[in-house]
Amino acid sequence: MLAAPENRFQHVYFALSALVASAMLVLVYISMRSSLNERLREDLAKAQRQMIFERPNPHWDYSNSWRRIGNSTLRHEIYSAYFDARTDIVGNVRMDDEQMTIGSLRIFAILPERLRDSSINCIVRFSDFSSQEIKAEEAGAMHDVHNNTFAAWSIMCPLHASRRSPLRLPQAVALAYASNRLSHLSPTFIQISYPRNMTNMFGRSRPTISVCVGPLHENYSNVLRLVEFVEMYRLQGATHFYFYYVEASEEVLRVLEHYQRIGLADVFEWNVQAHMQDVHYAGIVAQFNDCVYRANVVDNFRYAAVVDLDEVVMPLKHNTLADYLRQCDEGRTAGFVFRNVFFHRRDSNDTFNAPSHVLNRLLYTQSKVRRTLEVLPAYIRSKVVVNARAIVEMGNHQVYRAAPGYADHVVHPTVGLLFHYRDKCINCKMVLIVDYTARRFGSLLFDRVDNTCLEVFLNRGICDLV
Ligand SMILES: *[C@@H]1O[C@H](CO)[C@@H](O)[C@H](O)[C@H]1NC(C)=O
Ligand SMILES: *[C@@H]1O[C@H](CO)[C@@H](O)[C@H](O)[C@H]1NC(C)=O
Ligand SMILES: *[C@@H]1O[C@H](CO)[C@@H](O)[C@H](O)[C@H]1NC(C)=O
Ligand SMILES: *[C@@H]1O[C@H](CO)[C@@H](O)[C@H](O)[C@H]1NC(C)=O
Ligand SMILES: *[C@@H]1O[C@H](CO)[C@@H](O)[C@H](O)[C@H]1NC(C)=O
Repeated sequence: MLAAPENRFQHVYFALSALVASAMLVLVYISMRSSLNERLREDLAKAQRQMIFERPNPHWDYSNSWRRIGNSTLRHEIYSAYFDARTDIVGNVRMDDEQMTIGSLRIFAILPERLRDSSINCIVRFSDFSSQEIKAEEAGAMHDVHNNTFAAWSIMCPLHASRRSPLRLPQAVALAYASNRLSHLSPTFIQISYPRNMTNMFGRSRPTISVCVGPLHENYSNVLRLVEFVEMYRLQGATHFYFYYVEASEEVLRVLEHYQRIGLADVFEWNVQAHMQDVHYAGIVAQFNDCVYRANVVDNFRYAAVVDLDEVVMPLKHNTLADYLRQCDEGRTAGFVFRNVFFHRRDSNDTFNAPSHVLNRLLYTQSKVRRTLEVLPAYIRSKVVVNARAIVEMGNHQVYRAAPGYADHVVHPTVGLLFHYRDKCINCKMVLIVDYTARRFGSLLFDRVDNTCLEVFLNRGICDLV
């Protein structure tokens, strides 16, 4: 029998009310859960700050190198591991009577782009040689594989500690997974990098600008460019440089040693020879992620500029990069994205501003004064100065993943640009304009380059331009 029209109306009305009520219940449940989760994370952060963290490997000097994992013919390699105190980037945190999450381990490796294992484990080892296996919460190839068979991997294993006994941190870690049986039978342990100064772990980062330079390879030999690059960034306020080399000329290595000796640079061997053909650009993805984690975890530096030797970040309205950051960083920016303009190395040499007394006259930032009018869009060949503490996964031209609460800032092209001094033009017909901005560093830059070249190459004072 058909219901009376008002009866049917009532049915619809009840059904709708029930729907609204259950939607509200679900919303209340979700908000309760997320506020519980927030509370748990706040409590965890508080409890974490009250623990005593002691570096378990105080004599280790932080010098990593690539090492084979398990079966050597597979060419699986591991480079570095960092203790990461940020619990907000761990998915499943624990905080009960037994255990609490104290952070995670971040490991960088080179593995096949497609590994058939469904899971990877971290084997952590303590100073008494006891060990423990932890299932990785994240394990995968990072972005920018570019169709290579091998890729730079980022692996994250959460660390939980017992609440009943004093905190014990692992000293070393290895990766174990089924497709490489030997990785489990004879693990390749690498030392875990902890902060140099453990008391700074939860304090503010030091407002230092560090510079991460892509791996030097193919017998890199342009000494003058290297010195000019370092002195240019120093004039802009950078105080530390991280260099990685696959292969470089003897003179380049002498310059790097010099900067290392005066405490300005760390220099790491980047022995990826086994993968020069099958991983993107000498493993650069692993390199800049390693560098940003190193700046954050080991040295507690706030900023890392991830650039190549032919790229200069150029603020246009502030005197230096340091001034720009001091005035414009409000603390929630993951990366300041500087958009790209090209200068061409083939362009004529304008040495007009080189003082007559200088020995090294052909500085690239001073002799090339014409740049492309077009500013490329953000994330296309742009470069980023990151807040190291905000980074989970770094890319070459952008931040791929930031910690909760941080976002990118694209620098307006009237405020700053990336000056990219390329050897070859990509489109040689592009409209060029004269831009003298970099010349404001000229007088100091010429002298500093000459001084460094004199210190390193006593007899001549000339840095070769190759
Ligand atoms: C190592 O890997 C190669 C290639 O997959 C395989 O032929 C060899 O049996 C493996 N060796 C061991 C000891 O598992
Ligand atoms: C990637 O490699 C495959 C197989 O070698 C090839 O067919 C494909 O065209 C490549 N793609 C790109 C974007 O290079
Ligand atoms: C570690 O940092 C603290 C606080 O910044 C400082 O007081 C202490 O001197 C530092 N220790 C070392 C060995 O540098
Ligand atoms: C590297 O370059 C330097 C200087 O250009 C040269 O003397 C040396 O022979 C080169 N080494 C190799 C292995 O090519
Ligand atoms: C600029 O100077 C370099 C070094 O002397 C020289 O090799 C190059 O040909 C010059 N470029 C032009 C366009 O004259």
